[in-house]
Amino acid sequence: MTTLARATEGLERSTRSAPGRGGVPYATLITLIAALGGLLFGFDTGVISGALLFIIPEFHLGPAAQGFVVGVVTLGALVGALLGGAAADAVGRRRTNIAGGAAFILGSLLSAAAPDVATLIVGRFVIGVAIGLSSVAAPLYIAELAPAQQRGTLVSLFQLAVTVGILASYVIDGMLAPTRAWRTMLAVGVVPGAALVFGMLPMPESPRWLMKHGRTAEAGAALRRVRHEQNVDAELREIAADIAQDRPAAWRNLLAPELRPALLVGIGLAVFQQVTGINTIIYYAPQIFEAAGFSSATTALAATIGIGVVNVLATVVAIALVDRWGRRPLLLAGLTGMIASLLALGVASHEGTTAGWLGAMTVACIGVYIVCFAFSLGPIVWLMISEIFPNRIRARAASVSTAANWLANFVVSLTFPLLRANLGSSLTFTLYALFGMIAIVFVARKVPETRAKTLEEIAASWRTSQGAVAA
Ligand code: BGC
Repeated sequence: MTTLARATEGLERSTRSAPGRGGVPYATLITLIAALGGLLFGFDTGVISGALLFIIPEFHLGPAAQGFVVGVVTLGALVGALLGGAAADAVGRRRTNIAGGAAFILGSLLSAAAPDVATLIVGRFVIGVAIGLSSVAAPLYIAELAPAQQRGTLVSLFQLAVTVGILASYVIDGMLAPTRAWRTMLAVGVVPGAALVFGMLPMPESPRWLMKHGRTAEAGAALRRVRHEQNVDAELREIAADIAQDRPAAWRNLLAPELRPALLVGIGLAVFQQVTGINTIIYYAPQIFEAAGFSSATTALAATIGIGVVNVLATVVAIALVDRWGRRPLLLAGLTGMIASLLALGVASHEGTTAGWLGAMTVACIGVYIVCFAFSLGPIVWLMISEIFPNRIRARAASVSTAANWLANFVVSLTFPLLRANLGSSLTFTLYALFGMIAIVFVARKVPETRAKTLEEIAASWRTSQGAVAA
């Protein structure tokens, strides 16, 4: 038995004998391990900006090749997200997370050891697939194991891990830059990748997946490991009843009439998370600061690390509030702040305006924007994608929504430099504010509150609101 297995078993025994605190610490441990996929998601999307500075001269990369080395990760993630749904159904949530971890290790090794640009691009694509797999399987796995009252907090830990990964990539790039050690920068991902694979091995499979496959006894055992109550029969019955009413997990059933409103919410939230411009700030912050008058490389690095820190800290706000206030209030408040800061950023970056206070205003706008994203669309999108769909179709519907997120991410990252060159920064940020306004109407009208409901209660509420038919 591995040390980790012994440790978790010990933890489990101790939580069983302490009713009231019960399964939550164990569920937290499982969450932290699955969330390593989020850490790698953040790390591997962030690390390339610093590494590229040294890869460009070594491999003589032109602008197109540079764009490809960066963008191929997003394309890989799109593919990984599409594979993730079917994989999570076929082999289980746990094994899909393990596969994601293995792909992180492989991709990191390939890109760190790349003798030429082609190998580097293949390695980055494999990392992208790993990110896609994890972005579907980790939130899904956490949501299916979490007690309903803590689900928001636990799935939000996945987003916290993403933000910590982004910050870690900036810090590691900064530390290794003096020695130009780009291969080490890319290789660092092997460590959390191995922790993900080995940490996941002793973990239980999702009880919902086991029930879907008729493995009731194992589902009961898995549930007992994450609940402090030994009597989980009521929960098992609720899951079984939901599964009995559901259509089978097949791609065509995604378009079933009773599923459409949920799918619209999943895809809509996923796309709005990107088209409100988060990654233009995350990826291009140094350039935005430079345009606002902060020109030295040190200031740009400090500003970038500052954004990373703010992003982590404000995600903690969501973790604290999402199961108390609910998803909708946080989404609506966050979007309001994002729209206001984007509009102000539009004013501050108006071409031809050079007043001295504009630099300070740009920093303030970006700060407010990041805070508002981090306590709303950042975590809540991953949370809701993993909780709004019925049991049998959940993995595939989450996979399509996540793929939509990666596609939108790709389109926004690709078009931002073009929009800035043609429309100017001011109009570009105003355009993202406009998408934010559409998002607010969408959330207000279409997105249900899911706080403290079991996954089965959420599924049932779609059926009631649709007068739905069984399969
Ligand atoms: C988004 C990423 C983004 C990150 C920033 C995630 O939820 O999906 O695209 O880079 O948040 O924290």
